[in-house]
Amino acid sequence: MKVLIATDKPFAKVAVDGIRKEIETAGYELALLEKYTEKVQLLDAVKDANAIIIRSDIIDAEVLDAAKELKIVVRAGAGYDNVDLEAATAHNVCVMNTPGQNSNAVAELAFGMMVMAVRNMYNGTSGTELKGKKLGIHAYGNVGRNVARIAKGFGMEIFAFDAFCPKEVIEKDGVKAVDSADELYSTCDVVSLHIPATAETKNSINYALVNKMPKGGVLVNTARKEVINETELIQLMEERADLKYMTDIMPAANETFAAKFVGRYFSTPKKMGAQTAEANINAGIAAAQQIVGFLKDGCEKFRVNKK
Ligand code: 3PG
Repeated sequence: MKVLIATDKPFAKVAVDGIRKEIETAGYELALLEKYTEKVQLLDAVKDANAIIIRSDIIDAEVLDAAKELKIVVRAGAGYDNVDLEAATAHNVCVMNTPGQNSNAVAELAFGMMVMAVRNMYNGTSGTELKGKKLGIHAYGNVGRNVARIAKGFGMEIFAFDAFCPKEVIEKDGVKAVDSADELYSTCDVVSLHIPATAETKNSINYALVNKMPKGGVLVNTARKEVINETELIQLMEERADLKYMTDIMPAANETFAAKFVGRYFSTPKKMGAQTAEANINAGIAAAQQIVGFLKDGCEKFRVNKK
């Protein structure tokens, strides 16, 4: 059995070593494709792979067509919007993710960006503190919970909205559960996004919603660029010079944001919320173990596509 790690954005070496150990101990072979620049390299590498570990790498019908021996794809991470689930099912390929394994890393980066925003991008002028400010957590999943935990240390007042999480679950963490996204944005000085990119959420962070934020509002996006209505956010930030947008997922309109909103817009060059050795080890080794469990015992825990 051949397991391929196909990562445009490589794991830390220590994580690859850990994955190798899991795979080789199970008696399988490990192949590595990192930092590929052309899709054809991926199409070639998947030809004889029985299992693939990916990150945000795109697995579409063309890749699945090329991967004739493929049985399983594990997205080492949370969001699996980069995998065509229907095509995978049609190809009889199991798709899994590794929920929770990189969530602390993403949550920590959200705070890195919050501090940078309220300290005016470290430009030397007097900023503000996070202590005592109202933080809105938009979606209370694994990352959202870590954000809440860290926010307590900062002394923030914490609010959350999650349409799919019972209020009692949120409130037992000492977080105020609000009834709608509108209420969250109207209430909070800083909003941290943790929603997945789905048909319902794409473009949902729009002019009307962000405009509800109080003066000096900071929007932090460590989720997905697709959830932002970029055209409307640009329009709003043109009208409201008090708003700041900090993102770990470079917008399609990055150049426009960067040119128009100097001092109140920041994007990492490449999504790096989960780019820590710890997150790479946790998610990478979980992916390897899930592959071994699937190939040896048929274990389908964490399967995300239909059979
Ligand atoms: C995730 O969905 O797990 C995060 O967005 C991290 O993605 P990455 O593995 O591409 O850094």
